[in-house]
Amino acid sequence: MRPRHATEADLPDVEALLRSCSLPAVGIRGQAVQFHVSRDKNGLLGCAGIEEFDGSVGLLRGLAVAERARRAGLAALLVSSLVADVRLRGIDTLIVGTTVAAGYFSRLGFTPADRATIPLELLASREFANTSSGETTLLKAEL
Ligand SMILES: CC(C)(COP(=O)(O)OP(=O)(O)OC[C@H]1O[C@@H](n2cnc3c(N)ncnc32)[C@H](O)[C@@H]1OP(=O)(O)O)[C@@H](O)C(=O)NCCC(=O)NCCS
Repeated sequence: MRPRHATEADLPDVEALLRSCSLPAVGIRGQAVQFHVSRDKNGLLGCAGIEEFDGSVGLLRGLAVAERARRAGLAALLVSSLVADVRLRGIDTLIVGTTVAAGYFSRLGFTPADRATIPLELLASREFANTSSGETTLLKAEL
């Protein structure tokens, strides 16, 4: 249950969970994205990933919790686990782009981000490959 770093063996389940939530799974097997996962004996409960840009900015990717584990605070726990980890690595700003969950990220303390202040390479992330900028809300959290 407690979140931990994902291993190669977790990634097929992470991919399947993201797909089941209609979230982009593209690029998650590359070195650039690191996932934290939570599992129980029946399988994957949830995941959250981070893609690093410029050494100090992280793009929060693929936050998802299996339906059987929702509303227990697991997504918040996964984000906290990720935040503790990336702070140690020198990341001081987290960005998230979402089409459906801006309200959820606001509850976690994210605020609307000015697109002009976001690194261009982050905006070009494969995370956003299949969504138009008009439908994606960008939020940020200073850590
Ligand atoms: C969003 C999600 C990760 C939340 O997971 P979770 O472990 O249930 O979240 P928590 O237990 O920390 O918080 C649950 C609360 O968030 C609320 N919430 C869930 N999805 C929400 C959304 N899209 N917008 C606003 N609030 C939302 C729930 O209603 C619940 O509220 P309550 O505490 O008042 O009952 C999960 O619903 C999910 O995987 N959804 C599909 C994928 C997705 O949308 N991911 C985020 C986009 S990147």
